[in-house]
Amino acid sequence: MKLKTIEWIADTNNRLAPGRVRSIDQTALPVKLTYIDTRSVDDIWNAIKELKVRGAPAIGVAAAMGVVLAAQERSTDDVDRVCRRVHKACEYLASSRPTAVNLFRALDRMKTVAELFEGSAPDLVERLACEAVAICEEDAAQCEAIGEHGLMLLKDSDTVLTHCNAGSLATARYGTALAPVYKAREKGMKISVYADETRPLLQGSRLTAWELMQEGIEVTLICDSVAAEVMKEGKIDLVMVGADRIAANGDAANKIGTYGLAVLAKHHGIPFYILAPTTSFDLSISSGDEIPIEERAAEEVVHGFGKQTAPDGVAVYTPAFDVTPAELITAIVCEKGVFRPPFALGDG
Ligand code: MRU
Repeated sequence: MKLKTIEWIADTNNRLAPGRVRSIDQTALPVKLTYIDTRSVDDIWNAIKELKVRGAPAIGVAAAMGVVLAAQERSTDDVDRVCRRVHKACEYLASSRPTAVNLFRALDRMKTVAELFEGSAPDLVERLACEAVAICEEDAAQCEAIGEHGLMLLKDSDTVLTHCNAGSLATARYGTALAPVYKAREKGMKISVYADETRPLLQGSRLTAWELMQEGIEVTLICDSVAAEVMKEGKIDLVMVGADRIAANGDAANKIGTYGLAVLAKHHGIPFYILAPTTSFDLSISSGDEIPIEERAAEEVVHGFGKQTAPDGVAVYTPAFDVTPAELITAIVCEKGVFRPPFALGDG
């Protein structure tokens, strides 16, 4: 896989900090591939909020790196001051988007590093940079493992339906839902993908279709409303999607429209898989009812991409995610393997 969605670039060769965050500007795709170099925590907050960096695992990585940017802002010998900066940055970044639990897990890791650290201020900043880079590398390894486990669910010539973007753009590398597709290609299998366009922000058409085409994988773009029809026509062998937060009972939040796909898959007897690293598991909540669902601006629906598509003043309801109940999920694939119902994810 050629693309690096997000990475930490150190200013010098001998230390990781100070440095900057380099990430693909996902709002510019598919028209142009551009990278943003970021040196401020404010810019990271905005990049997350505006979906320049998006997808649960990538949001976690960006937030961790954002904490390093805050910690390194002005050089100081006062280690307590660096700790205070870390706490302030964590609180701030936690307010960017509520649903993907990866964000909060990454911030907790960064806070723990600062709290347990004993040493000088520059060494703490360096230690924080190491932690952020580790979060990024671990995500890439977890996604690759998801690909290996998910591969066992695929047969040569299968067609996968996916929703939103749970590909390499949403993670450090490989993706989650698309990881088995990439692994299958490495093994010489031919898997094709139907990508829902994913209203209203079109992550399926702008990002999934784009990244699969970059990798030479056969992809067919459909409007969201076509999913039922392609299932009825027998074109879909299985559904593979990602998740932003999975509760202990297996209920899984993912991009709005995922729940509807799960209902459709059940009706048509098509297996429905959730693929996500354990960093997307939230075992502190027993069911999906407790998952905070982000609501986005009405503007994104009525003036999508700059064109007015609804009358002025119309009421709009725009949840960005929905929760698929565990009973509709055939299996959850994470880096540890394939889990089938009844899900009791808290038991190991
Ligand atoms: O609003 P987005 O684009 O961040 O939503 C992303 C999704 O819903 C993905 O499917 C999910 O984060 C899993 S990414 C591996």
